[in-house]
Amino acid sequence: MKRVAVLASGRGSNFQAIIDAMKSGEITSGQCCGLITDNPDAYAIIMAREAGIPVSLLDYHCFSSREEYECGLIRAMHGTNADLFVLAGYMRILGTKIVSEFAGKIMNIHPALLPSFPGLHAQRQALECGVKVAGCTVHLVDEGMDTGPIILQECVPVLQEDTEESLSDRILFREHRCLPRAVQLFCEGRIRVEERRVYIL
Ligand code: GAR
Repeated sequence: MKRVAVLASGRGSNFQAIIDAMKSGEITSGQCCGLITDNPDAYAIIMAREAGIPVSLLDYHCFSSREEYECGLIRAMHGTNADLFVLAGYMRILGTKIVSEFAGKIMNIHPALLPSFPGLHAQRQALECGVKVAGCTVHLVDEGMDTGPIILQECVPVLQEDTEESLSDRILFREHRCLPRAVQLFCEGRIRVEERRVYIL
């Protein structure tokens, strides 16, 4: 059984999707061993408490520098003893030190079909660009911003009447399917990475 730690900054619906998938048996090879958050008001904290999952709060504003924060984060990540770290709406960029320390062990969910629309407000970027298909991507984290090897993607149509909110909701529904699937694949040891390509074994 692999240990899975989740990093989340806010609402935590993807975190909840992972918890639910572990309960329902969709994820059979992983157990959630901790939530790490940078936001004392994150709703994800309440979800973790309800599920009996230990919470580590690292409030960015309580650290004197970015370096100190990153050292604290590395300590907290080691403290979970996790095999996999899932960024589920974690809204801070992980520094290169963290990425190399946990190379190949961090995955992220992003609300766009990467490599299009990395960074913030991906759904708004998609609408403004006028694409007809949008979606979500689960990828391994490397030093770049949303640039790591892609594990899974799912697409949704962009409708003429879409607002940022309606498109985000449609994508989020797919995120909740895609992320638990990727976690299960990782925990089963079925992900092999060669250069930029991810092979599902
Ligand atoms: C999700 O849509 C996730 O893809 C996005 O934040 C939302 C978090 O929702 N992540 C990013 O934009 C990262 N660049 P949640 O807290 O309900 O899971």
